[in-house]
Amino acid sequence: MAEEMALQHFDPEQPHAMWRSLRATRPVSPIDRPNESGRQTYLVTTRAGAKQVLLDPETFSSSINGEHTGRFMGPMILAMDGERHCSRRLLISHAFRTSQIARWERELIRPIITELCAEIAAAGRAELIEEVISRFPVQVICGMCAIPAVDSPRFLQWAKDIHRGMLDEATGRAAAGQMRAYLEPLVEQRRAAPGDDLISDIVHSTIDGERLDDEEIYGFLRLLLPAGSESTFRATSTALLAILSTPGLVDRVRSDRTLLAAVIEETLRWDVSNSMVSRVATRDAMVEGCPVSAGSALLVVTNSANRDEGEHSDPEIFDVDRTDRRHIAFGLGPHQCLGQPLARMEMHVGLDVILSELGNLRLNPAYPVPVVTGASFRSPQALHVLFEERVSN
Ligand code: HEM
Repeated sequence: MAEEMALQHFDPEQPHAMWRSLRATRPVSPIDRPNESGRQTYLVTTRAGAKQVLLDPETFSSSINGEHTGRFMGPMILAMDGERHCSRRLLISHAFRTSQIARWERELIRPIITELCAEIAAAGRAELIEEVISRFPVQVICGMCAIPAVDSPRFLQWAKDIHRGMLDEATGRAAAGQMRAYLEPLVEQRRAAPGDDLISDIVHSTIDGERLDDEEIYGFLRLLLPAGSESTFRATSTALLAILSTPGLVDRVRSDRTLLAAVIEETLRWDVSNSMVSRVATRDAMVEGCPVSAGSALLVVTNSANRDEGEHSDPEIFDVDRTDRRHIAFGLGPHQCLGQPLARMEMHVGLDVILSELGNLRLNPAYPVPVVTGASFRSPQALHVLFEERVSN
């Protein structure tokens, strides 16, 4: 009864209240409408349920991730299981080695965010998400792939269209096709003459004589955009909102940048940008006392599991000083986010540079105080700010 009430009063912009109620009443709850493929779907809202599902990939397969976007994205590691996933992930993970991330930090991440801030510094006011933060990770990905910066707006648009493809397949398919047409000559060029960039790494990566085939290369490059840009810019926006709206926090971070690590982890725990991951049951199973039949879809709400009352005190509160900051924002198990060191680095450097380059940064009181909104993808929609042009800590 209580969970029926919770589902009925579901506010798609503010789902935390519903998730809290489901954690207390029915941690694995059926949704009364089937998903796009006609599958019975369950929401999994507790940490124990999330762990059970994500750590048992034989019973809970990732193949469901290929059912919709897979029709135009091509083969993606996100939708693979077992041996194939393991070997493909190994071939790709070499491109994200620690030395590369350190190089990207020096050569791309810091210069790109510094330049984006410099472009607005004299104005004294901005809508930071539109003008800076949303442009930042996509430019980093273009840089990683040695794609000219001037083409990054096209990649930003393709990333948005690929996302929309879940609801509007024609748009997603068109973006995927345009992206491939753009990338084909680059892939061929890097095949013939490898450079020090991610596309060359992916094209030439071999393990035991195996390499990615062409479809897998384009599938991965297409995944990189939505996986790497939208999630990171949204998480960075939420972290900045937390810094600017938590009393005293902006001053603490200004005088002690080491606090940024805690701000980032607490943001990821408190309200991560990607709220859920999908799985499909390969056989009948029992999750948190709820029978789930073979073929059912499960939406594991990591954003809810991170507020599990059994794990955290006052889980709804953003508290940078909490010690129970453990979270599963990057997932768990074999598909755990491949880009998490990069995401953390981008968030850290992004926030550091924004606070340095935009002096006395504060929310613009002429606008309503922003809040984090959204169901599957969460972040503030806009951050109107005021600042002074200066360089200091
Ligand atoms: C704050 C930012 C990010 C968040 C919250 C996030 C979250 C996630 C989550 C929850 C998964 C697991 C999906 C599943 O189990 O089905 C995942 C997978 C993945 N992420 Fe991220 N991600 C972020 C940033 C990035 C970045 C920057 C990149 C790369 C540029 C990236 C690349 C990937 C890839 C390739 C996978 C698939 C891994 C696999 O299937 O083995 N992510 N991410």
